[in-house]
Amino acid sequence: MPRTEIISTGFHVPEQVVTNEELTEWWDTSDEWIRERTGIEQRYWVQKGSGEVGSDLAVRATEQALDRAGMDASEIDCIVYATLSPDVYFPGGGVFLQQKLGLKGIPALDVRNQCTGFVYGLSVADAWIRTGQYRRVLLVGAEVHSVGLDYGPAGRDVGVLFGDGAGAAILGPTDDDRGVLSTHLFSDGRGAEKLWVEAGGARHYPRLSHEALDAGTHFPIMEGREVFKNAVVRMPQSVQAALEANDLAVDDIDLLIAHQANLRINEMVAKKLGLRDDQVYNNIQRFGNTTAATIPIAMHEAVEQGLLDRGDLLVLTAFGSGFTWASAAIRW
Ligand code: ACO
Repeated sequence: MPRTEIISTGFHVPEQVVTNEELTEWWDTSDEWIRERTGIEQRYWVQKGSGEVGSDLAVRATEQALDRAGMDASEIDCIVYATLSPDVYFPGGGVFLQQKLGLKGIPALDVRNQCTGFVYGLSVADAWIRTGQYRRVLLVGAEVHSVGLDYGPAGRDVGVLFGDGAGAAILGPTDDDRGVLSTHLFSDGRGAEKLWVEAGGARHYPRLSHEALDAGTHFPIMEGREVFKNAVVRMPQSVQAALEANDLAVDDIDLLIAHQANLRINEMVAKKLGLRDDQVYNNIQRFGNTTAATIPIAMHEAVEQGLLDRGDLLVLTAFGSGFTWASAAIRW
């Protein structure tokens, strides 16, 4: 059976940079508070009212990945699209990306696993490629958070964390011993209401009411400490699961890319695992939390900076809403 290799990557963020200082226009916060608690210095946001959506960012990320691979969009035979901020309620973002790429007939699957969406998507794509069902899978994580945040006083804890952006990877089969070694997926629905957007779903009739809007239940709500506590346990566990499955040790890791939700979380994860600074890549400082897009954006930057050589062991780990968490071990 072939393995799945990451043929190329790409990413795109909107033009508008928003600094921590600029957030004080809406919220009672400060650059110092945000940097100290999260490590974030700036993020990219679409212009409100511009209509720019996740699939627009995804097209640009895809074009870059296609360019790096020397491929034409017509060579893609399947799209896997991870997002928690779809362009519309339904259908999913995958078909809008497909439409914008001018592709017809190929399947477009949407993955709704929030911050772990990219790794969940990788797991599905890997299975399809290994069994020969599809040969060239476009895996994308894309988010536009900025139009869904609560710009009132109650929204400051969540609002300062999120950025908009998209990352893409083109995957295909390889017969050598590189590629995805294994993926590991986990979830625990007991945490489902600790980080969520309640309104807009079928739990309420009508789905969206004036009362819901007044109560702000269409905004993301988070029990930050609970999320933090779980993230620093679950991500190291998932990394250990990936290492054990492949008979590898922490020392064998050349690069760990963890979901970028909070620099403090990732520092604790690295410390728990006993990783050196040069074994870890973080870029939340510049992008904030772009949810399903953080891992492919970081992976693209790591590639461009020459941090991944052929044969290196790359480990991915993520934790997020659901709660869901996941990891992947990849021989680059
Ligand atoms: N600016 C200034 N003060 C703030 C802000 C802000 N933006 N937000 C909250 N505060 C205040 C709080 O009101 C509180 O004030 P009080 O002491 O007067 O009550 C104080 O800061 C401390 O608040 P905590 O919530 O206890 O702060 P904490 O140290 O836990 O940091 C944070 C908050 C950064 C959100 C942290 O809990 C965190 O990062 N949690 C995990 C976030 C995460 O990983 N999310 C998952 C990814 S998203 C996804 O999966 C979709």
